[in-house]
Amino acid sequence: MSSERSEPYPIVVSNQKGGVGKTTVAINAAGALAYRGADVLVVDLDPQGYLTTGVGYDEAYTQEPPSLYDALTDPGEHDVSALVYEHDEFDVLPANIDMFNLEQELVSAMRGRERLSMLLEDVEGYDFVVVDCPPSLGILTDNALLACPNLLIPAEAEDTSIRALDLLFKQIDTLEDNYGTSINERALVVSNVDYPLDGEQKGMLEWFDDTFADRIPVYELRSRAAIKRAFNAGVSMFAHDEDCDQREVLLDLADHFHELAGRQEVAR
Ligand SMILES: Nc1ncnc2c1ncn2[C@@H]1O[C@H](COP(=O)(O)OP(=O)(O)O)[C@@H](O)[C@H]1O
Ligand SMILES: [Mg+2]
Repeated sequence: MSSERSEPYPIVVSNQKGGVGKTTVAINAAGALAYRGADVLVVDLDPQGYLTTGVGYDEAYTQEPPSLYDALTDPGEHDVSALVYEHDEFDVLPANIDMFNLEQELVSAMRGRERLSMLLEDVEGYDFVVVDCPPSLGILTDNALLACPNLLIPAEAEDTSIRALDLLFKQIDTLEDNYGTSINERALVVSNVDYPLDGEQKGMLEWFDDTFADRIPVYELRSRAAIKRAFNAGVSMFAHDEDCDQREVLLDLADHFHELAGRQEVAR
């Protein structure tokens, strides 16, 4: 992107339901942004560390301190750059198994919801930061939403998504009220869409369109074994030696975020 780099554009991939494609979308959106020439930092905020182990950093997930756990416990004491791993496509700030204790510790800590914001404050050298969230509306997700107020929502074409998104937006309203900040939905990816569509998928695709398409782009990412195979190989579909017809979807998404990030620079 531009050589005169300002702060990275922070994106949060969030939906507290498990198995809705957060990690898949995070990796492939980051891969698409990188494919378009951006420098990207991916942060794995899920204590289960699926993204971390997915991209091959099993040793980072189980390593001794310091890890992202320590950095979030004591943001002033740690420098992100010392914790980052250089993946082929993007850099990764890996999750660590110790993070299972983090929610409990941050609940009673001062500014416990602003730890990621503090940690990312000094991060330089990236065009985008992409945070993959845990499958809960807990304090870690709050940290991600406050640090990265640009929301990329993955959601499945299932009826249960309506309630899940309702809860997510309620949580966002509460955070906005309590912190006097604004958290903006930027894009929705209907993930893992399986053709031929059944009635439920058809109805939900219409619902997503009716509910979101006048505000934000709604993308449809189809179910593809190639996406799983890329994940199993530790890369996005852009660094996998197998073509996938869903690349176009993610490149459109990347272009959308490049445009938003460009506007952010202008607005500054
Ligand atoms: N477009 C897709 N094509 C094929 N498999 C997918 C797709 N999206 C998600 N999956 C699969 O669905 C499962 C859940 O996805 P994941 O990204 O791990 O969800 P989450 O992070 O929300 O828990 C994974 O096994 C993943 O490989
Ligand atoms: Mg995940």
